[in-house]
Amino acid sequence: MRKPMIAGNWKLHKTVSEALELVKDVQKNVADVQDVEIVVAPVFTALYPVAAELKGSNIAVSSQDVYWEEQGPFTGEVVPGMLKDVGCTHAIIGHSERRQYFGETEETVNKKVKAALAAGLTPIMCVGETLEQRESGDTMNVVAAQVRGGLEGLSNDDVAKIVIAYEPVWAIGTGKTATPDQAQDVHKSIRDLVAEIASADVADGIRILYGGSVKPENVDELMGQPDLDGALVGGAALKSDSFTRLVKFEK
Ligand code: 13P
Repeated sequence: MRKPMIAGNWKLHKTVSEALELVKDVQKNVADVQDVEIVVAPVFTALYPVAAELKGSNIAVSSQDVYWEEQGPFTGEVVPGMLKDVGCTHAIIGHSERRQYFGETEETVNKKVKAALAAGLTPIMCVGETLEQRESGDTMNVVAAQVRGGLEGLSNDDVAKIVIAYEPVWAIGTGKTATPDQAQDVHKSIRDLVAEIASADVADGIRILYGGSVKPENVDELMGQPDLDGALVGGAALKSDSFTRLVKFEK
């Protein structure tokens, strides 16, 4: 069975002291949770202190991006080995904000996924369509191209280690959530595609998260869908009470 994952993508929020305040509180609230994989993704500057604080706890730490080289003249970049070094176990890759504002492409996402895997980080690879693409009936073409591009050249064993996050761009930070049926449709198609790219077993085991205005009010219904294995959460992950409620979703 697939262990659900609730991951908080903090985006560009929180100083070190604010980050520590939040995780200390969350840690207290979720200490008893064992059946959900809990992940937080602070900004680069807070990764080390947050990971140190959470060491030995049931909360894992993720970066929000990675670069694919090992080291060298690549000003401003941070690589998987360095992220492992400070205590990260996961890396968000290909978030739509990076695709939209920072020139991320299928090719760079693929390089980052491979680099993360090579270093032993779990990639949380994001895909999703814009409103315009949805309205013109292109959702599955776009999402399939992103999934195929991101997984290009990976062995089945490596595909099995990845977490995919379906985040429709029109639902991110807008308060407009995909309906459970809309999300389920795309998740099912992604799982079928993974079966085609890798194998039925890999597809069966891979976790597909939903992201886009997930909040305490809608998490239970979303998580009730058979192909939704968790959530990648922005706004509602920034406060201890709401993030805790998401981790403690009820099907
Ligand atoms: P919101 O939950 O704020 O809509 O953000 C979703 C997201 O982009 C998570 O990566």
